[in-house]
Amino acid sequence: MLFQASAALACLLQLCATAAALTEQQTLSLDGPKNVQVVREKLHKAEIIPTVIDDFLPSLTLSVIWSKDKAKLGNTIKPKSVQEQPAISLHDVTSPHGETTKHIMSYVVTLTDPDAPSRDNPEWSEMCHWITPNVTLSQETFSILPLLEFGVIEQATSTDGGPDDVMEYKPPGPPSKTGKHRYVFLAFAPKNGTTEALHLSKPKDRQHWGTGKEGGGVREWAEENELVPVAANFIYSENKKQ
Ligand SMILES: *[C@@H]1O[C@H](CO)[C@@H](O)[C@H](O)[C@H]1NC(C)=O
Ligand SMILES: *[C@@H]1O[C@H](CO)[C@@H](O)[C@H](O)[C@H]1NC(C)=O
Repeated sequence: MLFQASAALACLLQLCATAAALTEQQTLSLDGPKNVQVVREKLHKAEIIPTVIDDFLPSLTLSVIWSKDKAKLGNTIKPKSVQEQPAISLHDVTSPHGETTKHIMSYVVTLTDPDAPSRDNPEWSEMCHWITPNVTLSQETFSILPLLEFGVIEQATSTDGGPDDVMEYKPPGPPSKTGKHRYVFLAFAPKNGTTEALHLSKPKDRQHWGTGKEGGGVREWAEENELVPVAANFIYSENKKQ
């Protein structure tokens, strides 16, 4: 009788452990896609999709962190807080343990301003602010990362940008009386999934990303370089003189 009871108890405990493990796994697999859905919704709401980039479902999350602030999918940051180059990192929230090529592939992160000189009159749009290649997926496993607002992760890892940058970081400098500008960070992967070094074209000019066309920008450049979007983040920033 006693034996039976303890066996039952052991069984129950084991069941509990299994249930706990399952719940944890389910949370992980549900959280990922939900997070990237939220990113996509925010991009639609801010009209970044379809103005800047065609509709896509992100497969990674992109953290952008300056020393005093960070991008949180549409928060407003003062220009003076974004003058230094931010730390960026990419995290895999959809298949943290799968798809090994994701982990050896190198990604390209860009920053563009579709609201130059203003959202009402975007005649210089888009303005290229940054193209930094060779961004690799953060090696930290998903389960130990504190996921904050919509998959935006607190701590910064990598990258310095630097000698490999195709276009150096030009800090946002919204002119006076031009309202809020959207500053859009996009991460791209090579369309054919290659893990070899990419040979990216350098825009001739920051204005219109060198396309010479009003509204020309990151979409054209990404197409030309056979890149597809995999992650995004953005902020608003405006000159204090309005
Ligand atoms: C990335 O890094 C490698 C090795 O440091 C370098 O050869 C390459 O030119 C860099 N840039 C791109 C776009 O891959
Ligand atoms: C993949 O595409 C790039 C252009 O983005 C090209 O240079 C490279 O040769 C392609 N690699 C393979 C394996 O098809």
